[in-house]
Formats: sequence, structure tokens, C-alpha cells
Amino acid sequence: MGDNHNLSDYEAASEEFSWDDIFAEADWEAPGDLNIAHEVCDRHAADKDRVALYQVSEDGDLTTVPFWQLAEESNQFANLLESMGVERGDRVFSYMPRIPEHYVAMVGTLKRGAVWGSVNERFGPEGIAYRLADCDTSVVLTTTDNRETVAEALEDVPSVEQVITVDRGDGVPDGDIAFGDRLEGAERNYETADTGGDDNALLYYTSGTTGPAKGVLHEHRWIAGVAATQRYTMDIKPGDCYWSTADLGWLTGPINTLGAWFWGATMFTYEGEFDPAEWAELLDEHPITILFSVPTAYRMLRENESLLDDVSLDLRLAGSVGEPLSPGVVTWGEETLGVTILDTYGQTETGNFIINNYPSMEVRPGSMGKPIPGVEAAIVDPDTGEVVEPGETGQIAERPDFPCFFAEYWEKPEKTASCFVDGPDGEWYLSGDLAYRDEDGYFWFEGRADDVIISSGYRIGPFEVESALGEHEAVAEAAVVPKPDPERTNIVKAYVVPSEGYEPSDSLAEDIKTKVKTDLAAHEYPREVEFREEMPKTVTGKIRRTELQDLAQAEAEAGDD
Ligand code: WTA
Repeated sequence: MGDNHNLSDYEAASEEFSWDDIFAEADWEAPGDLNIAHEVCDRHAADKDRVALYQVSEDGDLTTVPFWQLAEESNQFANLLESMGVERGDRVFSYMPRIPEHYVAMVGTLKRGAVWGSVNERFGPEGIAYRLADCDTSVVLTTTDNRETVAEALEDVPSVEQVITVDRGDGVPDGDIAFGDRLEGAERNYETADTGGDDNALLYYTSGTTGPAKGVLHEHRWIAGVAATQRYTMDIKPGDCYWSTADLGWLTGPINTLGAWFWGATMFTYEGEFDPAEWAELLDEHPITILFSVPTAYRMLRENESLLDDVSLDLRLAGSVGEPLSPGVVTWGEETLGVTILDTYGQTETGNFIINNYPSMEVRPGSMGKPIPGVEAAIVDPDTGEVVEPGETGQIAERPDFPCFFAEYWEKPEKTASCFVDGPDGEWYLSGDLAYRDEDGYFWFEGRADDVIISSGYRIGPFEVESALGEHEAVAEAAVVPKPDPERTNIVKAYVVPSEGYEPSDSLAEDIKTKVKTDLAAHEYPREVEFREEMPKTVTGKIRRTELQDLAQAEAEAGDD
């Protein structure tokens, strides 16, 4: 089996691997001279037939974007930014669906040498405003459908001077820059910014335990890291059609898209939200050879597997990230999809999936696999930085010396420093994830070491949700914890002490949920709200989340609902 894969022998590849070999695959003299946009796009443009992106709209219309067109339109976008006064290093953020313009803007921003970030459309005005204001974003890119939400957010973001809007039928408001019109008038050539590996490139926000979300900064060298995973784990080859269901609003979107484009592969994307019937149809109609998603989506497909009965699949590989992939789903995938779903593990900070399964390596269902060649990972004692024995639980840790490792949390040096521990033979980055390693070096995920909640593959910080809950007039105190859930791994459960004068009721609970869902985010709101007379507290007055978490866990185990 092994010989026809890009990675034919895991052990040998790990021994021989050098990042220089990946940098050598770049067109420019990397890592000294390196610009992601050039490497993922322009150098493939000479082949006029090579397709960068197939996009299916919500109405089912197919748009084909060849690399030459992506190169040209991203040049135009870079020219537009320059004419607007966007300088190298300035932040440009998007809030928009999976439409071709979104991909053009991402590449164009990087060509300009500006920093690209994106906020997923699940976030509401509060979630958007925090992120844009935190990094003093200068430009926001959105669509007419989203314009009102963005307007509400921008009331709290003084740094944004200009909004670029894609017209989706309602007409671009006065004062905005109309994407289509302005691009049409822009010059088709652009001299890509002469950035190097250590220049800022991407800024994606992610949640932690304490405080609001943090911006995770990646530099242009990041592309070498993601290219390696796409080659070895996703086994990218010419002729592949690769559907990564991740949105550009999460780092997984750029990881797969830009990583695969580095090798000139073709991406597929669907504008609509997850829907098993729709997905089955797309898999039937389009020659998708690689599918990448989250365990929740695979579990929901399994729930509706009859939809796949008459589907003709072209899959040769499938991948998963974001939460534990249960062994039953792996077995189901082999039987129903005809491929072994490869579990991969990574974080916004590691910039990539770094502990993975590979098509040529024996898969142990339930295990996340082994570190990609070029990354040293271990299970360590977080207090001493010592590597623990096989079978013993500790924190997943990596040596912070690979290209796609993050540069810093945006303007939070103390937060950045707090992720590291000095071990007996060097520094480790601590992931906050608990796992053990078996005798043969496979990693097995056990849970979070902190209060971060993983739900449907989304990473949710309790602080942000609790703050949003606190904005509701009926909430005096709130605490959120993960409650185990068979489909979503966990749901967010909120315990709430009502304010004076408010009586607990189902309709009040609904009202609270709706407020958090619309103001903060559609994926972070508590799916359950339970009222309490008081919170369990420590002697110093801190809410004892662990006690609440035990309650939620016991409730889930009892199947109470
Ligand atoms: C969790 C998502 C179990 C983990 C790419 C990590 C996983 C967090 C897996 C990062 C996996 C990711 N099995 N848990 N295969 N992959 N996680 O930054 O807790 O949104 O720390 O990046 O997701 O979430 P983030």
C-alpha cells in the first residue's frame, strides 16, 4: 500500500526530514524571501487549465476559478488595497461566506504584504467588534447580506476606516467600496510585496480559558508547515479535488486551502451550511477525491447514512480535526465511505495539524497518530517540562521550532510566555491538552487540562460566553461548562443565578440563549441554561467550575433531559 503515497515510510521520513527541503520547493529563495500568495497562486498561473477552486453556491450553481484568474483578481485586490492606503502589516479582516471573492481577497491581501484575518459568520456584533478592535483592523471586507451586522459591530471599532462590500443584490451602501466595480477598474498586474519568512501574514482569533479571545499571529514561513501536512497527511497529488469543509473564518480554512494550493491542487468549496442531504448530493455530483471535516459532521452523516446509498463516491482519502474521532466513526467510514478517516490534531497556535495519521501508516482507531516529520512532540509534565513514561497522562507539548508555529498572541507578551515551560533538555510549548503516548509512539487524546470547551470541533472560551451572559439583565451570575453530548462531543451548558426580581422560567432561559446566540456567536451560546439560587464558590470567592462540570457530566451520564 505504502509505495504510492507521498509518505511511504513514516519512520524513514521522520529521520530524513528537513524543513529546507520544503522551503526548496518554493519558487522564491525561501525562507529569506517568501510570500505565501506568490507560492500558492502565481507560480501555477502559467498552466491555463489548472483549476484553483470549484465553488458551489447555495443555489447549486458552480463557479470555476482557474489559477490564472485567481492570480489576476488577487493582483487587482492588492492594487485596490494599495490605492486605499493600506500599508504592509496593516490588518484586513473578512466577515463573509465561502464565495470566490473571499479567496481572491485572502490572496490579494497577502500579496499587498498586509495581514489577513477573518471572523466566521457565526459571530454576532459583539464577537466581531472585540476581534477587530483588539488588533486595530483598518479594513473590513463583507457582503451586503452581512452589512448590518458589521455596521453594528463597527460602532465599537474606531480603527476601521473603510469597508469593502460585495454586492449580493441589495446594492452597496454609500460610503462603502464596491468590490466588483473597484476590482474591475483595477490594474491586473501587481508586484507582490517582497516579504520574508519572518514577516507577519495571518491573524486568527482563538479562545482561551481566561479573558477574551486572543489573536494568534503567523508569519509567511507558516506556509512551509502547512504544505508539509498537505503533502504527507492529505497525500495531495495532481488531479485531486479536495473538499475541505472548513470556513476561511477558522485557521483550518487557510491551512487546507493555502497548503494544498502550494502544490497546485484543486479545492472545492460549498457556500451553504452543513446539511447531510446536500453533502451527499455534492459528493455524488462532483469528483471529490479528498474530504476533510470535523467528527461532528461525520457523525451526522452516519446518522443519515441512507442518504449515501445511491451516491457514487470518488473518495480516496478523508481527514478530520478539532475533536476526538471515535473509533466507531473510523469503522463506519471504512464501510460506508470506503476510506479510513484520518484523525489529525492541531491548534490555531501550532498553525497546522501536527499529530496525525498517514495513509501509509497503520491506523489505531481512536488515536490521533504521530507527529508529522519535522515536528518534535511529546507528553510532558507541565510543571517540570519532563517527558513522562508511555501510558502516563501529561500535556501534549511541542518544540516551538517549526515554521508554522505561531509568532505570538497579538500584543500579549505575557500570555505568549505563559505557554512555555523549560524542560531538562530545552523548551516546550504546552498545548493545554491532556493525552498519553503508547509504547509505539501513538498519541491518545484524553481531554483539556483547562476550562476551554470543545463542541462540534469549535474551541470555546468560557470567559467570553460568561461575559455575554452577564449582558442580559436577568443574569446576576453565570458560569459555563462542557456537558458531554453524543453528537457534538460537548455542548455548552450555563448555570445562571437570576437577578433580583426575575423568576426562573423556560421562556427566560430561551431569551437568554437567544441573546447570546445573536450578540456573541451562534456556535458558542449555551444550548442549556439551568437556574440556581447560588454558585458554588471557593473561599476566595471564585466560582468552582469543576463542581458544576461534575454536575453536568453526571447529568449527561444519567441521560437526563
Ligand atoms: C482540540 C482546531 C481531539 C484540542 C484545529 C485543541 C482535538 C483544540 C483534535 C484546538 C483531535 C483538535 N482530537 N481534540 N484530533 N484536534 N482538538 O485552535 O483541544 O480551534 O487544543 O484548532 O481542539 O482548537 P483550534
